[in-house]
Amino acid sequence: MRPVGVIILAAGKGTRMRSRLPKVAHSVAGRAMLEHALRAAAGAVTPAVSQDDPSAGDDGSDHRHRQPSPGGPFAVVVGHEAEAVRAAVRWEPPRGSLIYYVIQEQQLGTGHAVRIAQEAMTAGASSPETILVTYGDTPLTRPETLRRLLLEHERAAATLTFLTGLTNEPGEYGRVLRDGAGRVTGIVEARHATPEQAAIREVNSGVYAFDAAWLWSRLNLLTPHPNGEYYLTDLADIAVAEGQTVATLNVAMEETMGVNDRVALAEAERIMRQRILREHMLGGVTIEDPATTYIEASVTIGQDTVIRPGCALRGATTIGAGCEIGPQSVIRDSQIGDECQVYASWVEEAVMERGSRIGPMSHLRAGARLMPGAFLGNFAEVKNSVIGEGVDMHHFSYIGDATVGAHTNIGAGAITMNYDGQRKSHTEIGERVFIGCDTLLRAPVTVGNGASTGGGAVVTRDVPPGALVVGMPARMARRVRSVRPDQANDAGEETGGDQADKPPSARPGAERE
Ligand code: UD1
Ligand code: CA
Repeated sequence: MRPVGVIILAAGKGTRMRSRLPKVAHSVAGRAMLEHALRAAAGAVTPAVSQDDPSAGDDGSDHRHRQPSPGGPFAVVVGHEAEAVRAAVRWEPPRGSLIYYVIQEQQLGTGHAVRIAQEAMTAGASSPETILVTYGDTPLTRPETLRRLLLEHERAAATLTFLTGLTNEPGEYGRVLRDGAGRVTGIVEARHATPEQAAIREVNSGVYAFDAAWLWSRLNLLTPHPNGEYYLTDLADIAVAEGQTVATLNVAMEETMGVNDRVALAEAERIMRQRILREHMLGGVTIEDPATTYIEASVTIGQDTVIRPGCALRGATTIGAGCEIGPQSVIRDSQIGDECQVYASWVEEAVMERGSRIGPMSHLRAGARLMPGAFLGNFAEVKNSVIGEGVDMHHFSYIGDATVGAHTNIGAGAITMNYDGQRKSHTEIGERVFIGCDTLLRAPVTVGNGASTGGGAVVTRDVPPGALVVGMPARMARRVRSVRPDQANDAGEETGGDQADKPPSARPGAERE
């Protein structure tokens, strides 16, 4: 394929959205519409960009055998709220490609916007021979489709090739005009169409491949319409008048759908969501109820994972193989290992390692990390903490800013008091510790390996390894966890789980201050 430069128009305000956010920054399946447009274009002009993208379609073409071609440059024409638009894009151009954000101060129409981008396209040592123009408000065009457009453009040796769609509700789209022999004779905007033209069902998608040299020399011929706008679509009329070859590629209407208002935004979301779900299902993920499952474009899921009804998987989330997610779970920006279970829980910016389980009604917050086999039961919350391998934390607990060692048991209602009103402090809990029910751990504090706390203990001082502390504030009730019979008097306590729940005064030999 010849070198292709990409221009994406994204300067319009999008008045019909009735939003403070510029239109192209609105997201579909978790990505700004403009980002979808950029990824699709990049996927079409550079090899191997869209391969792992579940939002990209599958038309049977084999991306791996694409001929490498130089991608870009890319120019995004921004104007209205340019900074907000740029910030909405979380995507880097493929290595070696350049991306320019070009400012269109006044939105004088799509033709004017392309003219603004000319300099960026021709700045490099070798300027592209073909220019692909797409609109930032058209998020559903697949990279494969743009690729087909470019190939058709070359095959037909056309000056201009554009995508069209067929619809029974052509609404605000530009209509494609053809002569008796089916040759394109022009594009007329809906607002300027005669009733006869308005009835035409074939519409312009706003996706075009141009011969670069022709485009640059003809943009100056555009004249403003009474509303002051220069229409890119008028180039079709100019090409036809010159006797140039104008080709079209008719594709499914959903691919050409432009989003101008929030009704269309919801429709685009619906279509994109179905595509994404389909990709996951074909990839070996069971989705019990696609109608209530929401998976954003950036999420990856391993084989044989089951997604139960009512789940939303968002952001930069990866889920391993053989997991059980839901029902009713929300996972955002998190890494879930293989064989994990998330029942009716929220997971945000957290990591669950292999075989860890949470829920129902648990909450992992930023910086929570569950080591393999850790288990959180009902109403457990973890923030910025490592929960060790095989830890059990069954009911009503909060662990924040802490480290919990392997095989420790966190009793019902145990809480780290990590915030004293001014600072956050760390709690260190060792391995094989038994934290009794309703224990309060006032950070900073350390509980040594093998130690125990009694029910309701308020731990304000470090607990040595193997010791038992009880009461409020918690006092030493036993220095070591297991004692030889001949030392029983020194240690002051025999071992035994139940004892930990009794106050010190109720036990012989308990330490008093
Ligand atoms: C445009 C087409 C129409 C087509 C439809 C497909 C023209 C004149 N009309 O209409 O034939 O059927 O798209 O969706 O092209 N933009 C700029 N600068 C401007 C004006 C617009 O960057 O000065 C950008 C907008 O941000 C938007 C895109 O160009 O992303 C299209 O503009 P929009 O106003 O939405 O055009 P439509 O009326 O939808
Ligand atoms: Ca539009």
